[in-house]
Parts: sequence; C-alpha cells; structure tokens
Amino acid sequence: MFLKPQRIHLHFGLEKPVKILQLTDVHLSLADDVDGDDMKEHAAARRNTFFKEAGYPERDPVGFLEEAMEYAKDFDCTVITGDILDFMSHANYEAAHKILAGKDYMFCAGNHEFCPKVGTPDSFARKEEKMDEVQSFFRGNMLFESRIVGGVNIIAADNGYYTWTEEQYEQLQKEVAKGYPIVIFSHVPLNCNVLDHNPHHKDLWAPDDVVATTRKVTKYIGEEPMIKGIFAGHWHGNGDFDLPGGKVCHVIGGLFKGIVGEIIID
Ligand SMILES: [Fe+2]
Ligand SMILES: [Fe+2]
Repeated sequence: MFLKPQRIHLHFGLEKPVKILQLTDVHLSLADDVDGDDMKEHAAARRNTFFKEAGYPERDPVGFLEEAMEYAKDFDCTVITGDILDFMSHANYEAAHKILAGKDYMFCAGNHEFCPKVGTPDSFARKEEKMDEVQSFFRGNMLFESRIVGGVNIIAADNGYYTWTEEQYEQLQKEVAKGYPIVIFSHVPLNCNVLDHNPHHKDLWAPDDVVATTRKVTKYIGEEPMIKGIFAGHWHGNGDFDLPGGKVCHVIGGLFKGIVGEIIID
C-alpha cells in the first residue's frame, strides 16, 4: 500500500467501534482536448508542483484516489473534505466521476472545487454559478450533509470559501437536537484565522453579516458539547490544533501526498 494513514482515536463510549476514512486535497490536475492547449499546459505545471510538494511519490493523485477508495471498503464511512479538483476542467470532472461514481462517500467542497484556473481570483458569484455543475459530478450535498453511523452523527459541511451560512447554523442545531455525539468535517481548519476571526481571504471579501455568522458558527462548533470531533484539510499537512473552547481540530494532509485520515471512534 502506498497510502500513509494518519490515525486518530476518539473515545465516545460506543459499544462497537466506528471507523471513518477521511480523504482530502486530492488536487486532480488534468486537462484534455476539450479543455484546450492552454489548460493542458496549466495542468502539467500544476501536476509538477504537487509532485514536487509531495516529495516525488510512487502514485499520482489519480492513483492515490483509486487506492484510497479501495481502502475505504474497510471503513464504515468515507468523508472527502474538498479540493478533490485542483481546478474545474472536463478532464478533472471525468477522472473524479470515473473513480467515485457508484461509491459511497460524503463530500464537502473545498476552495479549489470552484477554481477555473489556479491564479484566477476566488469569487462567491462564480461559486454560486458553478454549484450545480460541480455537484453533478459528486454524490450527496457538498454544502451540508449528515448520516448516523453506529451511534455517531457524521456531518460534512462546506466552509471552503472561509464562511459559514445561517442555513448551516440551523442545520447544525437540528443535528445536535438528534442527541447523538457528532463529528464534523469541513475543508478549512477551524483555527484558521480567516475563518475564526476575519474571513477576508484575498478576493473573498465578505459583508459584515456573513462575517458575523461565520464567527457565530465557528464559536458554536467550538463550544457545543455534542460536537465531539472536528476534522479538516486544506493545509496539506497533518496536525492537531487547539481551539479556543478547549477542543482540538484535527487536520489531515493531502491525498496527493498519499495521506489518509483513519479515525477510530469507540
Ligand atoms: Fe488543497
Ligand atoms: Fe484548500
């Protein structure tokens, strides 16, 4: 196996352990004739960047995603926390769909899911416009979904553009009311200062009400006792980070490096 599992153990007092596989930051960087020569060149440069950043691994991102989805058969649930795509292209959509179609997984979006070409400024308007197109290549609801597995409520929620929404706040409260211990997965780590305090990320200027909602939801996740596990990606390296309320945000490194999160809850 070429995958490098990062193992995290949580204790909820379950009768039978629940095993969750977290995959994140695959960064598929492919382009074909439909995408055109310019994108083919861009894709090759991006593949090279990730190959170097990963230290010249044995597999490319496509190979790692295939291997990880095979490995997922040993788990009760698989959660993919965004940046499956490095940019929106015909070839990336096709590759992702070919590997993931018919597989069971939960998925929340990252920032790169809505990127037409790396270097293009991020845009809330483009995210809105491209939402249905991107979603059509993946199962579930990449903005918010939940499922109860072995007595654990697993939530995948989008914060890929460094913001939370009022709708997500209401959805979270409904999930808490179900009475099961919760583990929540999102793309951007909750201790990321742009998410916790100031969601001004380069081009992603957000109005005051969005900033206020974002802070409120981050605080809620940090303080609500039923939310017992917090997981993210985006940073491409592994790490455990303390949140202000005393909880820990577990960050799993990029699958383009072969890293997968193995979360065992008992
Ligand atoms: Fe990423
Ligand atoms: Fe990201």
